Amino acid sequence: MIDKLKNKVIIAPMAGVTDRAFREVAELFGAGLVFTEMISAKGLYYGDKKTKSLFDKGNLKIPLCAQIFGHEPDIISKVAGYAVSCGASCLDINSGCPAPKITKSSDGAALMKNPLLFEEVLYSAVKNANCPVSVKIRAGWNRESVNAVQLAKIAEKCGVCMITVHGRTAADYYKGKADWSIIKDVVSSVNIPVVGNGDIFNAQNAKEMLEQTGCAAVMLGRATLGNPWLIRDTVLLLDENKLPKPPSVEEKIKLALFHISLIIKYKGEYIGVRQARKHALWYIKGLKESARVKNLISKANSYEEIEKHLTCLNEF
Ligand SMILES: Cc1cc2nc3c(=O)[nH]c(=O)nc-3n(C[C@H](O)[C@H](O)[C@H](O)COP(=O)(O)O)c2cc1C
Repeated sequence: MIDKLKNKVIIAPMAGVTDRAFREVAELFGAGLVFTEMISAKGLYYGDKKTKSLFDKGNLKIPLCAQIFGHEPDIISKVAGYAVSCGASCLDINSGCPAPKITKSSDGAALMKNPLLFEEVLYSAVKNANCPVSVKIRAGWNRESVNAVQLAKIAEKCGVCMITVHGRTAADYYKGKADWSIIKDVVSSVNIPVVGNGDIFNAQNAKEMLEQTGCAAVMLGRATLGNPWLIRDTVLLLDENKLPKPPSVEEKIKLALFHISLIIKYKGEYIGVRQARKHALWYIKGLKESARVKNLISKANSYEEIEKHLTCLNEF
């Protein structure tokens, strides 16, 4: 799977962020592989329409990996095939989400506390997906139980095609620094591709992670919010050792508006505008005078309103 990608730059699954519009922008900026937001296996099983819509591959030409979360092997086995029927090239099992609303139901990172169940879930997915299955883990549940290497070996045994490791524990949430040495430990313990994740803030960081850990590809997360240029920069640095100029204010605003128009196109104006507000704020983060329009954008009710507030930043 990973050897067929056009480059080593993968965009992280991010709930509330990596929807169809975001994935299309990521493709435009050269991503090799994109993920859906995490999707509830139970929601799929019960035929929830909103849950199903998260899979929408649209016109994407690069491969899409559909990520599901759940802990019941029988439910996983019943929904695993849905990913490929929606055009996804890969099914990913979320074993890293630390959010209490997920882990209290034994899903996400809670699976790391139960290697036997982790194994059963992965077996069910691999057996029924009709496409390659990957898994995304953290270093462990907490600092006292760092078990990424043990889980990676289990995943390999189950026939998983790739493992993403975020170098924090679930208890760390997003605090502190991601520990890339755990990614290196996993790389040297299994014979399947390992994707490194955590704290890549610029293209140089991506290069360093590849060099320091030996991972097969890097996964970019938070640093791409309002900054898809990071994808372009990383691809160029890794492939051609070049680093292009950062975008101008005008380019940022133009892309923000394009991105927002895609969100509205796919979700309609009412929901789209509400979801687009945070993206608009990410695009203008750090720009001169952005503080002045922040509140206005947070209350905007139409595309035109957001456009008006964003374009006034062009003047500074
Ligand atoms: C808003 C947000 C939503 C996320 N949603 C998911 C998710 O749905 N599935 C998942 O496996 N990880 C999710 N993550 C974690 C990221 O995929 C990634 O592992 C994490 O942000 C660390 O990478 P980074 O330091 O490059 O951001 C999310 C992170 C953020 C910030």
